[in-house]
Amino acid sequence: MCKPFIKWVGGKRQLINDIKANMPQKFDRYIEPFIGGGALFFELKKENSLINDYNPELTNLYEIIKTDPKALIEDLKKHTNSEAYYYQLRALDRDPETYQKLSKVQKASRFIFLNKTGYNGLYRVNRKGQNNVPYGRYTNPTIFEEENIYACSRLLQSATIMTGDFENVKAHIKAGDFVYFDPPYVPLNATSNFTAYTDKGFDDDMQFRLKELCDYIDSIGAYFLLSNSYTDFILDLYKDYEIVTVGANRALNCKASGRGKIKEVLAKNY
Ligand SMILES: C[S@@+](CC[C@H](N)C(=O)[O-])C[C@H]1O[C@@H](n2cnc3c(N)ncnc32)[C@H](O)[C@@H]1O
Repeated sequence: MCKPFIKWVGGKRQLINDIKANMPQKFDRYIEPFIGGGALFFELKKENSLINDYNPELTNLYEIIKTDPKALIEDLKKHTNSEAYYYQLRALDRDPETYQKLSKVQKASRFIFLNKTGYNGLYRVNRKGQNNVPYGRYTNPTIFEEENIYACSRLLQSATIMTGDFENVKAHIKAGDFVYFDPPYVPLNATSNFTAYTDKGFDDDMQFRLKELCDYIDSIGAYFLLSNSYTDFILDLYKDYEIVTVGANRALNCKASGRGKIKEVLAKNY
């Protein structure tokens, strides 16, 4: 057993089989520069993987699960699921001095609790970097599964965890490695743009920069597979590579009309 320990918007669990069917048959190192909840990473369970995310709160959680799962579990047991407690814990980042005093374990524990009891597993901060996700009102949410945390910790022992922009992984990619990219998607239309994840956002220029990294990976004899939305922009950007269309049930939109099967693409160089 080993599965994501957080809910993550854009999580890839539904598309896992399509993604696995489109992976190279053999490769050396597994690299995932937009790790998020890590659905594919936990499914593959490859040793010596390299994972990265721009969100330092998220990568701190991975670090703590790797290095101190016991302390994390002890701290997680202290939380109680009530609206008042949720907002009290959420408010800790309103005062930078208080927040800085929290240990890395306390920050990781707060992250998991807010993720599992906040609305829809959303991660959203305002311009000051303060969490502003409303309370989720779930009757009996599972905050954590002790065994799973230990299983993830075992897998993470051999993993390298990096924090920052996706391009930071470039220097570590070697011929024969496999890089899976699951970036913030190009929005389908102006009203459906959940592209943020971070204060920096993810605009067209970043999509171009990512395509350049894919070209680099191709040029050195490594493999890449990239998920993104089925849009003219992406179809055109990756037209020199193989593109496979897959379907996913997405519920990013709060209106019922925004739900249902949405086409996505997988682009690959092999
Ligand atoms: C679509 S999610 C990945 C979901 C993941 N595959 C899963 O199964 O949960 C995109 C991730 O990219 C991260 N991100 C956003 N901008 C980034 C950047 N410039 N470099 C690296 N990661 C970034 C976000 O923090 C988010 O976790």
